[in-house]
Amino acid sequence: MKAYMTNGTIDYLQKIEQKNPDMNLHLMNSSEGGIAYYEGSVEKLFNSGREYEVIMETGEILKEGFVVMNNIPVSDESKPGFEHRFKNRSNMVEGMPGFQAFRLLRPNSNNTYVVFTQWRTADDFENWKESNQFKEAHKKQSAKKPANIMEQPFLTTCTMLKEEE
Ligand code: HEM
Repeated sequence: MKAYMTNGTIDYLQKIEQKNPDMNLHLMNSSEGGIAYYEGSVEKLFNSGREYEVIMETGEILKEGFVVMNNIPVSDESKPGFEHRFKNRSNMVEGMPGFQAFRLLRPNSNNTYVVFTQWRTADDFENWKESNQFKEAHKKQSAKKPANIMEQPFLTTCTMLKEEE
């Protein structure tokens, strides 16, 4: 399954949503403006933006919640090794309070994988990040960036846009 993401003003993204009511577009507010995300279609709604292959998915992305995306730049030759580690992931995030959805997105248009997580609230995410489950899931990570990762990963945090906004 494919996934698409783009950035833009909320107004602009809402217009795309209104024109495509059947596409199940997810609109989010981040500190850098709006983000739109949708899955499962080969049809391209965005002029620019990023295309991904959804290589792992659990849970359903809901209309309300707090989204944290970990953006991890990985060189071409390291991609198989990176994905292999996720295949052996601990699957503990799913059991955490407030967990709603997880996606591992392989980039088709650049080198940056996205580990997409959706939580009921920001506190639910913080709670997981401070937990032993998080430590356990990342215990193979050294304090510094792992060898197969090109640059330091960066986080994008967003809240789902409410219908009435
Ligand atoms: C910044 C340093 C981080 C790196 C380099 C990194 C990379 C990885 C890798 C390679 C795995 C697969 C398991 C392993 O081999 O350890 C993993 C698991 C995971 N990571 Fe990260 N991660 C980082 C921090 C984060 C953060 C801040 C989030 C928040 C969204 C996150 C979300 C996840 C999730 C949801 C899993 C699967 C956990 C499970 O199965 O229970 N990671 N991460």
